[in-house]
Amino acid sequence: MNRLNRRQFTSLAAAGIATASMPRLRAAGPNETLGVCVVGVNSRGNEHIRGFNHDPRTEIRAIVDIDESVGQQRVAKVAEMQGKKPKFFTDIRDAIDFDGIDILSAATPNHWHALMGIWGMQSGKDVYVEKPICHNIDEGRALVATAKKYGRMCQTGTQCRSSSAVRDAMQFIAEGGIGEVKFARGLCYKRRASIGPLGDYPIPEKVNFDLWSGPATFTDPKLTRRNFHYDWHWQRHYGNGDLGNQGPHQTDIARWGLGLNRHPNAIFTYGGRLGYQTERKDKNYVDAGDTGNTEISIYDYGDKCIVFETRGLDCKTTSGPEIEGFFGNEGSNKIGVIFYGSEGYLAQTSYEHCTAYDLDMNVIKDFRAKNVGDAHFANFIDACQSRDASKLNADALMGHLSAGVSHLGNISYYLGEQNHGSPDEIRQILAGVKSLDDNDATLKRTVDHLVGNGVILEETPLSIGAQLKFDPETERFIGNEAANAMLTREYRKGFEVPAPENV
Ligand SMILES: NC(=O)c1ccc[n+]([C@@H]2O[C@H](COP(=O)([O-])OP(=O)(O)OC[C@H]3O[C@@H](n4cnc5c(N)ncnc54)[C@H](O)[C@@H]3O)[C@@H](O)[C@H]2O)c1
Repeated sequence: MNRLNRRQFTSLAAAGIATASMPRLRAAGPNETLGVCVVGVNSRGNEHIRGFNHDPRTEIRAIVDIDESVGQQRVAKVAEMQGKKPKFFTDIRDAIDFDGIDILSAATPNHWHALMGIWGMQSGKDVYVEKPICHNIDEGRALVATAKKYGRMCQTGTQCRSSSAVRDAMQFIAEGGIGEVKFARGLCYKRRASIGPLGDYPIPEKVNFDLWSGPATFTDPKLTRRNFHYDWHWQRHYGNGDLGNQGPHQTDIARWGLGLNRHPNAIFTYGGRLGYQTERKDKNYVDAGDTGNTEISIYDYGDKCIVFETRGLDCKTTSGPEIEGFFGNEGSNKIGVIFYGSEGYLAQTSYEHCTAYDLDMNVIKDFRAKNVGDAHFANFIDACQSRDASKLNADALMGHLSAGVSHLGNISYYLGEQNHGSPDEIRQILAGVKSLDDNDATLKRTVDHLVGNGVILEETPLSIGAQLKFDPETERFIGNEAANAMLTREYRKGFEVPAPENV
């Protein structure tokens, strides 16, 4: 088999001279079992293992995790499930060299997604990359360019794209089922506790923290959060807050239903990381997370508009009838999208369920699905076998645009983080923000929710983000260099994500 070894591959890729003519590492025949390497297997990676194990067309041949104790447990589990032990690696670059791998499936933290996808595709593999497929906008562009240049399949882990309920509901909207639709509201009302005080915590044994940090800042020997796994979501060097965690599922559906295959023209976010001081009864408490747990992001697409509401505190009693009408008042979490049409509404209330209403809130159609996750892996495998990227339900461009909604909203928030204001001051600013929402009503609901959770806004006020203008074609902010600087990051040597023209 014609292969590049690791040294040749990494030096070509680093020099930006890996080309489409680079030899493919493997060319599985149409009926051959596809070899899978699952990367990052603590939590979501288990679903990747389950999904590929479930499909008879694939076999899991390698597991990669920088935490050896987690990785070895999954190796034992896969050996038991499929009767064949996969090889274990801690370094993705060694796994890329391993024979018999056709698919790389990544469920690592967000700061690694783009590089995993790019390295995988440059070495001749098809890739399934979790949402958000990138940690910043430029990384998304690079992934799109890589998939195109190397002719690889790149599926984004937004599995609602393969939900028959959501697909049928989006078709219903496209066919005019609720009239003309120009506005969608995405909701991530998802209770998130404090991740503990900002501190200096030990790195767990059997963890390679250098590799975990990869393209992000290397803070060794300091871990600033209590829990090593998962809680990185709320530290911006690695994660993207809940706007960029749960958010991309809903921003994706909102764009889909509105037919928006592009970035917005203007963005404004207000919010904060609020409420943990009240919970801890310590107004000086500093949580280790530095992403917003409360964000209202307004996206102007010209004649259409998306508003995305992120809440991390309890939402039981403070949603307001306009939300509860679609989601009910049971439980705290409300995650989904509401489309507002000229003749009715459509609410996506879970990955398996959507409901269409007339303007009097009578149900006109119900959409249900099963096994959404399996369907998404199966769709990816269909595309890998047929070598037809147009079959992918969530290709790299879809993933990039939907992650982009979250990244743009967060950039507005980060730029205005120190610019605090009272609800009255925010109301005055909102009067000048173009939106198809009732901006005052959404602000009032947000303030009621915070006050209802004991937040004293005079002590811990909301932040007023930057009002940003964006050029969807060039993917650059207009007249704001501080914002443009946040479209990328500083990469560590050896972990650079190439520019799109250098993939
Ligand atoms: N599609 C979905 O519904 C869904 C659901 C949950 C999570 N996710 C996504 O999955 C990803 C992982 O989330 P999680 O909750 O499992 O996080 P986690 O922190 O629990 O697990 C991440 C795993 O990746 C490993 N890892 C980190 N860097 C690595 C590297 N360079 N090489 C190999 N392994 C590495 C970690 O050791 C850990 O085992 C996130 O991006 C998240 O957004 C998607």
